[in-house]
Amino acid sequence: MCGIVGYIGKGDATSVALDCLARLEYRGYDSAGIAVLNSKRLEVRKRPGKIKELIELIRQRPPHGHAAVCHSRWATHGEPSERNAHPHADCTGTLAVVHNGIIENYAELKERLLAEGHRFRSQTDTEIIVHLVEELAKRQPIETAFRLALKQLRGAYAVCLISAKEPHRLFGARNSSPLIVGIGDGEAFFASDVPAILSHTRRVVYLNDEEVVELTAGGPRLMTLDGKPVQRESTTVTWSLESARKGGYPHFMLKEIHEQPLAIEHTLANRLVGDTVRFDRRTTQFLDRLSDDEQLIIIACGTAYHAGLVGEYMLEELARIPVDVDLASEFRYRGSRLGRRTTVIAITQSGETADTLAGVKMAKTQGAKVLAICNVMSSSIAREADAVIYTHAGPEIAVASTKAYTSQLTVLALLTLYLAKKRKQLPAAQAKRFARGLAALPALLERALANEQAVKAVAAKYASARNFYYLGRRHNYPSALEGALKLKEICPLIHAEGYAAGEMKHGPISLIRKGWPVVFLATRSPVYEKIVSNIEEVRARKGECIVIASEGDDHIRCYADRLITVPQTDEFLSPIVTAIPLQLFAYHVAAANGCDIDQPPNLAKSVTVE
Ligand code: AGP
Repeated sequence: MCGIVGYIGKGDATSVALDCLARLEYRGYDSAGIAVLNSKRLEVRKRPGKIKELIELIRQRPPHGHAAVCHSRWATHGEPSERNAHPHADCTGTLAVVHNGIIENYAELKERLLAEGHRFRSQTDTEIIVHLVEELAKRQPIETAFRLALKQLRGAYAVCLISAKEPHRLFGARNSSPLIVGIGDGEAFFASDVPAILSHTRRVVYLNDEEVVELTAGGPRLMTLDGKPVQRESTTVTWSLESARKGGYPHFMLKEIHEQPLAIEHTLANRLVGDTVRFDRRTTQFLDRLSDDEQLIIIACGTAYHAGLVGEYMLEELARIPVDVDLASEFRYRGSRLGRRTTVIAITQSGETADTLAGVKMAKTQGAKVLAICNVMSSSIAREADAVIYTHAGPEIAVASTKAYTSQLTVLALLTLYLAKKRKQLPAAQAKRFARGLAALPALLERALANEQAVKAVAAKYASARNFYYLGRRHNYPSALEGALKLKEICPLIHAEGYAAGEMKHGPISLIRKGWPVVFLATRSPVYEKIVSNIEEVRARKGECIVIASEGDDHIRCYADRLITVPQTDEFLSPIVTAIPLQLFAYHVAAANGCDIDQPPNLAKSVTVE
């Protein structure tokens, strides 16, 4: 969702800020804008569409200065247009703000500000912030006015303020929307996310909710909404700049698909030793304190939710722990009664997803414990949780999650092995087999990736189809959901649905007709024969069966219109391996259809509003 950048320092603010903003493109947006402070005044430029169109506009009339705020907007209140694009200025053009989030009480504030004589130019909720600061600044210094304005807001915000009267300071604040501070050499940054500033600095200060920052070229000064000073050390980010670049691939998604063997190697590193799983001290203490009758609830959204569904099979069958999996957006409103014997496991790549964060906060309020499985270090959810298992997949830039998903599954497998052994639920031989399967994953994923050309050929054959089913059972039922999500996410022309294969006869089969493509997950498992029966049922209705099966399974050949093989692995780990052809298939169908793969329309990488 919306990307924010603020810059102050020795460089040319326009080019530095736009360079940073372009690195946030993956968040999804429909317009962009910048306010640059030159020696006299603020110059604002905005454009609907892509950042390159804003850059083109700027090339015609370039503003220069030492400070700027800029923004890529994902529309919530008001259509994507020039007047609704950020930054929004006050009545006099002295102040400008950029904002990510939703101000829930904007209508009542706007009514009051209109009555006080303020003139609004946009339909956004954001614009009330700048007028509110303008109004309050009539009676107090800008810093106080900014804090008092924030105190009147209800909802989520990451916001940056620039003022022509304060040329050496920017202001920023966050509440439930991400905002970080970067500290460079004679320059400083605000940004929604680390990749934005990686080419300028790796020194980062993570902000907590309801914290305000005064930013000068020398660095940040943090305070609470009441103006009390906050001390916070900076952290040095370990992600490399290269990891946030395409590295010769046409799309981030393809690069990230191919990074999976390495990502999983990193997920496993120092954690799996023989058949023993080790976590850091905090996580180990957390896990060792779980009661024998602990209730586990996994919450997540989208792809991370699918990972949670796979985790449910592993934890219930191997560790014998009852698990519920809930969409975070439902969990937060379900009115569940949680208690001290409840552990909520929040799975999230970004650590910033609004519903998952709200679910985590709700769980804590009710006395439950929270374990996060997260990719982004020091993100909001990672900081809220009592313990975190980082996936260590490296930055994931493409909107469609790939390596984050398989690394989440790997963490869930490690967690399962740890708890199963601790609770003595897994016979030693099975534990050893499972651990060997885990250790072999990077090599198996390499082999699955080596099959890319075969997957591409199948994708070419079905690229013009407009409806797909994906069917699987047991551990590969969530794989079917995930495969379908990948395709519809990056190929908006296509409708794809994932189902539990056993559900087909309860409705979806009615649509199958000649040529309707159905992707089957049919790797070796105790339900293999049942899946083969489902394939027969589709064939009987002249549907086209694209079958993902285990290497060496010759039996299945005669049932498949197209066969894609994957290396054989432990049944519980097979969703990690089958993810590869599912991702590649979606990628190549989308590429054949000329889709905008890394930035599909209307989607955002990190959904930071409800
Ligand atoms: C995945 O391809 C999607 N981009 C989306 O479903 C994503 O998984 C979901 O928004 C959750 O994000 P998170 O993992 O950052 O919380």
